[in-house]
Amino acid sequence: MMRLFSYSAPRMPILVNLVLVILYFRSNVVSAEKHTAFFIFGDSTVDPGNNNYIETIPENQANYKPYGQNGFFKDPTGRFSDGRIIVDFLAEYAKLPIIPPFLDPSADYSYGVNFASGGAGILSTTNERQAIDLKTQLKYFEEVEKQLKEKLGNKETEEVISNAVYFFSMGSNDYLGGYLGNPKMQKLHHPEQYVGMVIGNLTKAIQGLYEKGARKFGFLSLSPLGCLPVLRAMNPNAVEGGCFEQANSLALAHNNALKTVLTNLEYLLKDFKYCNSDFFAWLHDRINNPTNYGFREGVNACCGSGPHGGVNTCGGTKTVTTYELCDNSNDYVWWDSFHPTERIHQQFAEALWDGPRDSVGPYNLQDLFFEKFTIADIVDGNSENENIF
Ligand SMILES: *[C@@H]1O[C@H](CO)[C@@H](O)[C@H](O)[C@H]1NC(C)=O
Repeated sequence: MMRLFSYSAPRMPILVNLVLVILYFRSNVVSAEKHTAFFIFGDSTVDPGNNNYIETIPENQANYKPYGQNGFFKDPTGRFSDGRIIVDFLAEYAKLPIIPPFLDPSADYSYGVNFASGGAGILSTTNERQAIDLKTQLKYFEEVEKQLKEKLGNKETEEVISNAVYFFSMGSNDYLGGYLGNPKMQKLHHPEQYVGMVIGNLTKAIQGLYEKGARKFGFLSLSPLGCLPVLRAMNPNAVEGGCFEQANSLALAHNNALKTVLTNLEYLLKDFKYCNSDFFAWLHDRINNPTNYGFREGVNACCGSGPHGGVNTCGGTKTVTTYELCDNSNDYVWWDSFHPTERIHQQFAEALWDGPRDSVGPYNLQDLFFEKFTIADIVDGNSENENIF
């Protein structure tokens, strides 16, 4: 093949040579760009540092010690963890580089980009002006789309968009600060009505992306929010520091409503494929039985102060400047009063990637990234034995 380009092929008409040269280079470009991009929308559970670039309250930032203390990243990055977060592991499994924060001026968007922002909600009324809400995150996606079109042209951009995986980890703040912490909102809306509004806005976001060509979606379900150390510490009805059941009920209602919506969208939207997760019970079990999963402590936060480490003082940048820090965060489910440790993030990521079908489905993220869509493909991918059929 290469010989065609050598000078010893004098009979080759110039035009044919030219076409071959173009085809040769074109195929290089295509193969270089051929990967599944990863776009992330969310809150502090998946913020890789967008909030370092906005004006907000110290509670919504994590770019100071001891955040990131386990040393995977040299300095604190803004991740609300002792190290990596779910999407860092997912990118690794998908053979992608770490997906950068949209607001990082040096970010390369070739493999996707992360729009998540600590404190953000699905509703724009949640933590207003203190985070990048979902609506703004979607506007930023449009900017990325425009930049890709300039760089790759329309056709290849369409391909990138339809191949990409769109991951959402959002909703907790709508129920915590946005509702339980907001008496005015509680007066305006019954819980069921409020859940309907949150889910309605999330559905609108999914449909909007679908109309732009997005086809593959992933969702991190809500945790048992009432068992976050911060809510245990605030629980007015706490008996022995029990979970805040009202918060848990909202999370469950949200997860159930999302499940129904996704089932419907799968029927309504052609080629719509998704990976949903049901980690409520999954995390609850780790909280109640930490030793079964290699943890020592499921209730108290590693970094914080007060009961259960539930007073949000980790890092000492807030009103209170002192805090306690555990010796080994690997022993803990909770890193600070709101967020789990890197070890939990990793277990979340592993479960989303190829976890059990009873808590992740109908597709897992491995299926979506590597397009294992038929039953045969899935069976084939799971058994390492070749040529059975
Ligand atoms: C989205 O949320 C707003 C409140 O922020 C609400 O008025 C509206 O009805 C919601 N939209 C949908 C489609 O549910």
